[in-house]
Amino acid sequence: MYTYSAPAKVILFGEHAVVYGEPAIAAPFAALQAQVTATPAPHGSGLSIIGAANGVTLHVLPANDTPDNALIYAAQLVLKALDKAPPDLTLELRSNIPIGGGFGSGAAVSVALMRALSAALGMPLSGEALNSLVYKVEQLHHGTPSGIDNTVIVYEQPVYFVRGKAPETFRVGMPLTFVVADTGVSVSTRETVGDVRRLYERDQAHYGGIISEIGALVRRARSMIEASDAYEALGELMDVNHDLLRALTVSSAQLDHLCAVARESGAYGAKLSGGGRGGCLIALVEPDLAPSVSAALRKAGAAQTWLMRLE
Ligand code: MEV
Repeated sequence: MYTYSAPAKVILFGEHAVVYGEPAIAAPFAALQAQVTATPAPHGSGLSIIGAANGVTLHVLPANDTPDNALIYAAQLVLKALDKAPPDLTLELRSNIPIGGGFGSGAAVSVALMRALSAALGMPLSGEALNSLVYKVEQLHHGTPSGIDNTVIVYEQPVYFVRGKAPETFRVGMPLTFVVADTGVSVSTRETVGDVRRLYERDQAHYGGIISEIGALVRRARSMIEASDAYEALGELMDVNHDLLRALTVSSAQLDHLCAVARESGAYGAKLSGGGRGGCLIALVEPDLAPSVSAALRKAGAAQTWLMRLE
């Protein structure tokens, strides 16, 4: 029996623009985890996956077609990469990562599942191989993913990410404390990414301009994170990044309100994180203020809050 896990992720700066080649900054978020336990099954029973949310059992057959189901697809990609037939094995999923919450739930489940299956086959996948297989599953979930979610979750390190390039890590010059809040509203990233794409194609000058502004802001944010006393300036950049995301139509009245509540209760800055229109937001705070900012967010309707430290 093997249990493998993978963390959630939080995007600090640059979501959506990263799909268009601009940089983004993201970190793993270990408070939320997907887990997969692999248990040998009786001879001849084949490979089954028991879902986390619904407990439904899926049977994995060797197949050449791309299935609609991301879990089956993830398993088939591993079997194909390792040139193996489906083993007699049960993969049981557990996850406390909100689905459609901007936390990379799909990528985390794929990573845990692929780790468990490849280990059970005696051929654990390297980080690079795993990352490229998870990216294929992300394409099924999201259509045109940048690859940031799978990269942060596979390598479990903060990254400065540019699509198609090797991810860079960076120095955190000052310890950063974030309150992370879930709106409780589940939104498909495929939908928000698709909507931004349609806007971009309709008016490239305008939306391309916003995307480039986000890119320039992310470069500044990186140097501030590497500096030693730039909390206020970094908070301001979060506010500006949120406004630019609103201009891309991926915020919501609830996200705007919760970000305003975080700022009014003393956060340096706040922004939506991930695909938007729901999902989660992050607020940069002084550690002392974290409990009161969290309480204010919950009072204003956030479904859950957590703390995230980056140092
Ligand atoms: C989703 O976590 C981040 C987006 O930028 C999409 C992507 O990068 O694939 C919205």
